[in-house]
Parts: sequence; structure tokens; C-alpha cells
Amino acid sequence: MNFSRITGVGFYVPETVVTNHDLEKLMDTSDAWITERSGIKERRFFTEGKDTVSNMGARAAQMAIERAGLTPQDIDFIIFATLSPDYNFPGSGVLLQRELPFREIGALDVRAQCSGFIYGVSIADQFIKSGMYKRILVVGAEIQSNILELSTRNRDFAVLFGDGAGAVVIEKTDNPDRRILSTHLHSEGKYAEDLILEHPGSRLKDRMSTKIVEEGRHLPFMKGSAVFKHAVTRFSEVIDEALQANNLQTTDIDMLVPHQANLRISEAVRQKMGLPEDKVYNNIQKYGNTTAATIPICLSELWEQNRLKEGDLVCLAAFGSGFTWASALIRW
Ligand code: COA
Repeated sequence: MNFSRITGVGFYVPETVVTNHDLEKLMDTSDAWITERSGIKERRFFTEGKDTVSNMGARAAQMAIERAGLTPQDIDFIIFATLSPDYNFPGSGVLLQRELPFREIGALDVRAQCSGFIYGVSIADQFIKSGMYKRILVVGAEIQSNILELSTRNRDFAVLFGDGAGAVVIEKTDNPDRRILSTHLHSEGKYAEDLILEHPGSRLKDRMSTKIVEEGRHLPFMKGSAVFKHAVTRFSEVIDEALQANNLQTTDIDMLVPHQANLRISEAVRQKMGLPEDKVYNNIQKYGNTTAATIPICLSELWEQNRLKEGDLVCLAAFGSGFTWASALIRW
């Protein structure tokens, strides 16, 4: 039987640190409001001309591939999760393919927003189980600072998001004791417009116009409290679903890695699930919400801190625009 396992983790964040105090100078907000409502203290913003979504993904990928003891030549397929691709087309997966010395392998972009990385892990797991590929790179990378208007009218959104990239290598294994146990994917499109960046899209003859800009419809929009409530419910549901599918209990979890949307969401989920603080990893304080990149960045930091031990039960869970939500249960 083919199983799959994460064998390498890596990440990259841009060097420019933007603190809450920096944002106070640009809009009517405060460090106290942002910290209390989201847990975020600072985030990273990309440097034009230096950082792109695909080259940040490549830096994270290089690290993950090296840590797996492989070279780019060993990789059979690229999965690239992002809501902020370099171009409208082609996707960032093919741009990553040319960043490192890969073979002429397939490259797939995944558009499932904050759940994109787990969707990517699930696709990789199925390709490996089917026997089609042996070594797959899954990347989550975002540049979001340039879709934020750093002004009071967009402040609810602008203070939450940052730029960054994370990557994992997923390899075939025969060992049933160290593997991805299951993945669970969901969506509910009726809430698509509750967390959306509408323009430039393909619905209008003029994809972009002065009117759209004046009305602020080129900016991301979010029904913050609705997103918050759905997130807490769906995170808990999809973690329970993963545990039930494997006949496991909440107490069996060694590390829960939630998508970093808001520290209060992670904390509400932790309390709902009855997990102790040291079994839930959060780094939103340093990076804000980096969408598809949050989970692989967390995994990379945990690995660097030697907190992912052989045989640990690691649960990944995400919720985001779509709405989409997902989980993955891993015997590390
Ligand atoms: N600084 C200061 N005040 C702000 C602000 C900011 N950056 N953003 C909004 N406010 C104001 C609002 O205008 C509102 O003012 P009012 O009461 O005078 O109308 C007040 O703060 C409270 O806003 P509210 O929306 O009730 O706050 P909240 O407690 O729901 O927190 C979010 C707002 C956005 C932090 C919270 O809803 C949230 O995190 N939602 C989920 C977001 C998310 O995770 N999105 C990504 C999903 S992957």
C-alpha cells in the first residue's frame, strides 16, 4: 500500500517588518485594538523588485527540498496554493518551475484561499497513493500587502494580513506508522461574497474602472464577525471529522496547527476542543495572516524548534474565503 509523508519543511518571509505602530501612522487604528482583536503585533511586507510570490515560494521550496535530503531534480510535481499569483495567467506553479532546476514536471495552482495549503496536501496525498508520483512539492505563498489599502476605510482588513511563503515535500512511504492519515475538504459557495476581492474579475466588460476604484470595490471585503463565527464552528467540525475518521480522540492530538487567521479564533477553537495551550501552535503575532502560507510556515518553525517528534499526531486545520475549510491528520 502506498502512503505519503511530509519529509521536508521550509519557509521564507520578506525582510521588511511592519509593526502595529507603523500602521497607526497610516490609518485610524491602534496597537491596542489590533493586539486585542487579532493577537497580531507585526507582519512582513514584500519589497518590489526583490520578492515575488513565485520566488518567495522558491526560497521556501529550496529549504524544504534540502531538508528532505533531495534536489529539485527529484521532485515529480509542483502544487502551488495562492490567492495572489504573480500574474492573472499563467499560474505561479509554472513560474516556480523555472526558479529552481526542476525537470519539466507538471505544476498546478490551487485556489482555495486560506485552505489552499491543506487542499494541496490532499491532492499530493492522492497522487502518491495512486502511484502516479513519488515526490511532490506543496507550496503556499502570498503577497497581500499590495491589495490592502493602508487607510481607515480598509482598516478592518488591512491590519490583519501579511506576506510570506512556506513549503513542504511530500514523499511516498510504505511505513503505515508515519504518514498522512487522512484529509477532509469542504466548501460552501453561498458565502463567497462574504470574504472577497471582486475586481479585477471577468464579470464586467471593463475589468477595472475609475468607478470601481472610487467605490473601493478593488479592495478586499470581509464580513468580519460572520467570518469569525463560521471559522470557529468549521474549524472544530473539521478537526472532529478527522479524529472520528481515524478512531482518535482530541486528547490524542500532540500538535494542532490552525491556519493563522486570528489569535482569538485559534484560542476559541482550542478552548472548544479542550486542548492545552502548548498543543496549539500560533505565530500570527509575528506574521499576521499570510493565507495559504500560514500552515507551512508554522510547520517549519515547529520543526526548527524540534517540536515535531516521530510518531506525534499532528492536526492541520484551515478556514477561509469561499467559504472553504479543511483538515489533515498526520502521524509525523
Ligand atoms: N482599528 C481600529 N478600529 C477598527 C479597526 C481597526 N483596524 N477595524 C475595525 N475597527 C472598528 C470598527 O469600525 C468598529 O467600530 P464601530 O463599533 O464604531 O462600528 C469596531 O472597531 C468593532 O468592529 P467589529 O467588526 O465589531 O470588531 P470585531 O471584534 O469583530 O473584530 C475583526 C474585527 C476583523 C478583527 C474580526 O471580526 C475578525 O477577526 N474576523 C475574522 C477575520 C478573518 O479571520 N478573516 C480571514 C479568514 S481566513
